[in-house]
Amino acid sequence: MAVNGGNPAEYSHFSRSVIDSIERWSGVIHRRRRFTPAAQIVKVNLGSGLQVAPGWINVDGSLRTLAAGHSPFVIGLVYRFLTDHQNLSRDEFVALLSKNTFVHYDLKYGVPLPDSSADFIFTSHSLHHLYRDKAQALLADALRVLKAGGTIRIAVPNLEYIFSLYQRGEREHALKYFFYPSEPRNQLSWRHYQYDFELMRQMLEGAGYDKVRRCAYRQGRTPDLELLDNRPHETLFVEADKPLEARDELDRAAATL
Ligand SMILES: C[S@@+](CC[C@H](N)C(=O)[O-])C[C@H]1O[C@@H](n2cnc3c(N)ncnc32)[C@H](O)[C@@H]1O
Repeated sequence: MAVNGGNPAEYSHFSRSVIDSIERWSGVIHRRRRFTPAAQIVKVNLGSGLQVAPGWINVDGSLRTLAAGHSPFVIGLVYRFLTDHQNLSRDEFVALLSKNTFVHYDLKYGVPLPDSSADFIFTSHSLHHLYRDKAQALLADALRVLKAGGTIRIAVPNLEYIFSLYQRGEREHALKYFFYPSEPRNQLSWRHYQYDFELMRQMLEGAGYDKVRRCAYRQGRTPDLELLDNRPHETLFVEADKPLEARDELDRAAATL
């Protein structure tokens, strides 16, 4: 399945800023939405882009995901104007957005699902696109959404790998993880932080998770990793669980009655 692109270099600064404004306002308008899952085992992919697996609820703030569920004509228009065409044909793009579940949502507002509703939450190469305080808030909200004993898996560029590039003289390559050329660029693709395992462990434990562990590529408790994990050489993979004894706020309120 294709790795996310969607940043065509041919966009002018004007058209890029129009698309960014629509995405931002659509995020504001939809910030209170809640998706009620029907499946027994609920799996949520945050910042999915187009890197999806069957049966998952894919949450993304890109305008492409806003087209999901619409007619092939509308999805085709989005393909024509909002993708770089490098990874998928038009038909593949239409099929992907028609057959999978997408929720258009800005993750800076949290996770658009009810309390204790998800068994697995997965997020790959997306958390570092949020400012660190927003990423911390997102992890806390993901804990709210997970069922007790549920698992979160986070994949992010590995800061240790980036520094190792620099140390072995690959300066330009290392610096690309922090800085960009001046050409128009989707606001959702700006990187706002980078993490190593220790930082990620602190964030997860700070949010209330336990059993924080570093995982190998496509190894872990999370299902469908053969479809979801990508970029093995540059990525830090971490899993953590919602404590079994953790009780959501409703449980706590009920216990005090
Ligand atoms: C680099 S892509 C990663 C896509 C995919 N998860 C993968 O592993 O290849 C980052 C994705 O995060 C999404 N994203 C970034 N910031 C977001 C935000 N604030 N809310 C929702 N989605 C966001 C982007 O739209 C994009 O699809």
